[in-house]
Order: sequence, then structure tokens, then C-alpha cells
Amino acid sequence: MTPGQAQIIKLTFAQVMRDKDAVGRLFYDRLFTIAPEVKPLFKGDIAEQSRKLMDTLALAVGMLRDMPTLVITLEGLARRHVGYGVKDEHYDKVGEALLWTLEKGLGDAFTAQVRDAWTALYLAVAQIMRDAAKGKVAAVA
Ligand code: HEM
Repeated sequence: MTPGQAQIIKLTFAQVMRDKDAVGRLFYDRLFTIAPEVKPLFKGDIAEQSRKLMDTLALAVGMLRDMPTLVITLEGLARRHVGYGVKDEHYDKVGEALLWTLEKGLGDAFTAQVRDAWTALYLAVAQIMRDAAKGKVAAVA
């Protein structure tokens, strides 16, 4: 991810977060439409859950300049996700729902550059989490 992309993410993130709860609801509605099989994995309050996801992404944006700390945070998160029943293939669905939500939330501001920047962030975060999840399976086996 380039410094320009990190900047784009910070600006557009601030924009969508003005209506955090609505964005969270939009995201989960979309996710459960394209991946209904993941709905039973969510036991807690969805509004609260939406905030956690968005807050973690915000944290990731803030930590882009401190990759070692970001990786440690995401590895712990990934291990907990294995416990929630999250599978490797679910990461693509979550990424798809996230980009769709940003497109709806940003409207005309969702340019190709914005799409590319968020895609790069999500792929990087998801890759770290997917690898850590596999590491856990290998360690246990
Ligand atoms: C970039 C990827 C993701 C981020 C940043 C993220 C973030 C979070 C955070 C912060 C929590 C709160 C609990 C904790 O800290 O352990 C959480 C819980 C959870 N996440 Fe994720 N998540 C991601 C991907 C996914 C994917 C791909 C799934 C698959 C459907 C998923 C399903 C869940 C579930 C089921 C919970 C527990 C909810 C509950 O207890 O009701 N997450 N996630």
C-alpha cells in the first residue's frame, strides 16, 4: 500500500464514519445477503459488532506505519476468529460486503482510486489474518 493510498483511506474512512451505525447495518445486511451461512456465527448485538469491525479497520489505518504492532494485533484477532467458526473463504465475502458498503456510503466519492486503496488495505489485513489462522490450525494438528 502506498502513502497516497493510506491518505485516501483516512479521508474516506472519516467520511463514512460520520454515520457509523448506518454504515455498520448496511455492511451486515449485505454480508448476510451474499453469505447467509455466516449469520449463525454472530451471537452478539449486530450494531455493537459493526462498530467493532469498523473500529478495527480504523485501528489498522492508524497502524499502517507500525506494521509489527499491526501484525501482532491482527494475529490475535485471527486466532479468536478461528474460535468463532470463521473459515478462510469467508474473508472474500466480508471484503466484498465491505467494498459494496463503501460504495453505497461514499456515493460519487467512491472513485476507482478509492476502490483500489481499500482493496489493498483489506487484502493486506485479510492476508495477515488468514495466514495466522492457518498457523493456529498447523500448531494444533
Ligand atoms: C479484516 C477482517 C476482519 C476484522 C478487522 C474483524 C474484526 C472483528 C472484531 C474486532 C471482532 C470483535 C471480537 C474480537 O476482537 O475478537 C470480531 C468478531 C467477529 N467476527 Fe470479525 N473481523 C474480520 C473478518 C471477519 C470474517 C471474514 C468473518 C466471517 C464471517 C468474521 C466474523 C466474526 C464473528 C462471527 C465475530 C464474533 C461475533 C459474536 O461474538 O457475535 N469476521 N471481528
